[in-house]
This record gives sequence, structure tokens and C-alpha cells, in this order.
Amino acid sequence: MSTLVAHSDLNRSILSVYSIITWACAIIAVVVFGILSVILLRFRERGGAAPGLPRQIHGHTLMELVWTIAPALILLVIAIPTIQVIFRTQTAAAPKNALEVTVRGWQWWWEFRYPTLDVVTANELHLPVGRPVVLSLEGPDVIHSFWIPQLGGKRDVVPGRLNHITLTPERAGEYWGQCAEFCGASHALMGLRVIVEEPAAFEQWIAAQKATPAEPAGPAADGKAVYTRTACVGCHAIRGVSAGVLGPDLTHFGSRKLFGAGLWPTTPEHVVAWLKDPPALKPGSKMPNLHLTDAEAKALAAYLLSLK
Ligand code: CUA
Repeated sequence: MSTLVAHSDLNRSILSVYSIITWACAIIAVVVFGILSVILLRFRERGGAAPGLPRQIHGHTLMELVWTIAPALILLVIAIPTIQVIFRTQTAAAPKNALEVTVRGWQWWWEFRYPTLDVVTANELHLPVGRPVVLSLEGPDVIHSFWIPQLGGKRDVVPGRLNHITLTPERAGEYWGQCAEFCGASHALMGLRVIVEEPAAFEQWIAAQKATPAEPAGPAADGKAVYTRTACVGCHAIRGVSAGVLGPDLTHFGSRKLFGAGLWPTTPEHVVAWLKDPPALKPGSKMPNLHLTDAEAKALAAYLLSLK
């Protein structure tokens, strides 16, 4: 998660400001420490001789001018590109072919909605490489901050306010993100993955996400029965089964590599452990311990993992 590696136009803009400031500070440091070293050596106390008093220079017009104008110029060099980048990235008009994604920060996970494609997912954002994307950030509960270091950000997700990020991912790959604003007990456990892929692979992913999952068989069918008779249905959505809106949409839970906002691999053992006692694995979790039996948790995990 390094902001020094830029894989989007937005992050390259931010990096350009960062490098100007770093170079400006480096040059100032060299000048200041250079002069300081000369003074320390030249005016050091020498054995025997009493130190002479420096010549008083109060009211030296030239020096007054120099140390007023020089910092103003340095600030100008930093301010102009900074303000340019702020305006360019804050008010960026959405390009016509831009992909729209609504990002919702919840305690403590991320919801991604593709309104024009009718796809909803959680904690795993898929984007096509080379196509601009407009992320609309909404906060249903408290303030979060959406941050994918290599792609850009961070930008706050504020209840009652719609913020935007416009960027174009420039290289296929997997990028980690993290909530960057303290938002409660499990703030540190609010990660996300962004998968930037070739347009064809992205289209394939969209098609798979739009498909209704197959009817489960065997233990997974028992799991579906557990799902529909317990509190799961109140918070979660699975297309054709339930329509809860408070927890992650689980329609294609099994297709995600990680769950719990980037915390655990989606394997039977981890999913069972989570179902048995969510708050034990994630402090403050809004998902309560439903006191499932081992058999129920195993069946439910089999069902969730079958939702590819
Ligand atoms: Cu959400 Cu910190």
C-alpha cells in the first residue's frame, strides 16, 4: 500500500505535487544545513582567544528583502501546482464513457454498487483497465475514508454528503485499500481489494455477477434452509432469496477471494469460524452471534460458498 507507486492518472497527479514538495524541502535542507555547517566551523570557540561579538546587522534592507521574498517564492512554487491538482481532481467532470460505481462505507465493510449494470458486491471492487471510473462515496452510518494508495484518494465518506473520485486505472492488477478515518472498534479491519482487469475479463465478471446463483444441492441446500429461517435474511440480500440491506450482499459470496472486509480467505474453516461468533473475530461487529450449532454453521458455510 504505497502512494509512491502510481497506477492511475489521479495518483500520478498527486505524486507530481508530492515530488515537487519533497524536492523543494530537500533543497532547502541542503542550503540550511550547509550554511549551518560553515558557521559552526568558522565561528567555533578556539583555544585561548575570547569569542568576538558578531557585527550587528539590524535594519539590513537587503537581507530583510531576501528572507521575505525567498519564502514567498517557495510557497508559490508549492501552492500553484497543489491548487491546480486540487481543482482538477475535485471538480473533474465525468467523461462520457465513465463507469459509475457507488461506494458505501459501513461499519466495517465496503459496499460497491454498479447502478447502470445492476451489480452489487462487497469489499471487492472490479474495474476495467483504461476506462475512467466515477466513484460516488456515500456514508450510511459514520464518517469513513476511502483510500486505495496506488490508485488515489483518500477521500472522506461522509453521511449526508456525496463525494466523488474520478480516476482511470492504468495497469491491471490487484490493489489494496483501507479505511483511513477512525470509524469505531474495527476501523483497522476495514480493508478492501480493487481488481483492475482487462475489459474482456471485466465483462466476464459482470456477466457472472448478474447471473442468479444455481439452486444449491446437498449440504448447501440444508444451509439455504438455515439461512432462510434465521436472522440472516433480515440484513443480507441474496438474489431471489432475501433482500436485506444492512449487511453485505451475498448473492456471489463464494466468488470473492476474501471476506470480512479483506480479513480472511473465503474457505469453509474461516467462514464457519465467522458464522459461529462474528464479534469474537471482529470487535464491535454489527453481525451478532446467532448461536448456530456446529452443523448449522457448516451447512450455512457450504451454502454461502456455493454462491459463486
Ligand atoms: Cu471505516 Cu475507518
